[in-house]
Amino acid sequence: MEETKHIYPIFDRMLTRRDKEALLGQRGVMVWFTGLSGSGKSTVAIGVERELQRRGLLCRILDGDNIRSGINNNLGFSEADRVENIRRIAEVGKLFVDTGIITLAAFISPNNALRRMAAGIIGAEDFLEVYVSTPLEVCERRDVKGLYAKARRGEIKEFTGVSAPFEAPEHPALSLDTSSLTVEESVEKVLELILNHK
Ligand code: ADX
Repeated sequence: MEETKHIYPIFDRMLTRRDKEALLGQRGVMVWFTGLSGSGKSTVAIGVERELQRRGLLCRILDGDNIRSGINNNLGFSEADRVENIRRIAEVGKLFVDTGIITLAAFISPNNALRRMAAGIIGAEDFLEVYVSTPLEVCERRDVKGLYAKARRGEIKEFTGVSAPFEAPEHPALSLDTSSLTVEESVEKVLELILNHK
């Protein structure tokens, strides 16, 4: 192809993922949190990050609101934009996993096709799906960002759980209903999942 004519990839001379993992003394993995807005994805991810750090393990969180104010600030919430949102996140996440980093992704990622795409980009063996299954009523009652109220008033279109669908994962590695678990309990379960991952 004309575009790649003067491009000389150097992958074969670069250090490998195994080299990075040996340096860090850990394995790269993607923990993919999915669930409604306000379900607790970010809160649990932040708790897990602290626990990993305490154990000398290197971790990186990728979070919806942060990514959407940076690399994905040109995307909205149409179906096509949600696909592109998750595609970019998965590609970026793969770079972290390939560097041996325990990567925590906290995005609504509202359907199986989106999550399958992410797993396909990252690699199924490195992809742990965590469903934060907190019921809509609870998320809406919390309404941390006031967005459910706005969505009910019609001020936000295509709001997940109100005017856009959310499809629960079929076989998540772990389910967490944060209305019946404390943050510490949820964090502990995710930590176990990560530390037992071979
Ligand atoms: S995703 O569906 O594309 O995976 P993502 O996790 O990146 O969503 O962003 C979700 C966050 O964006 C929500 O927590 C909320 O703060 C905000 N948001 C703004 N508009 C919407 C909307 N229409 N639907 C869902 N979340 C929205």
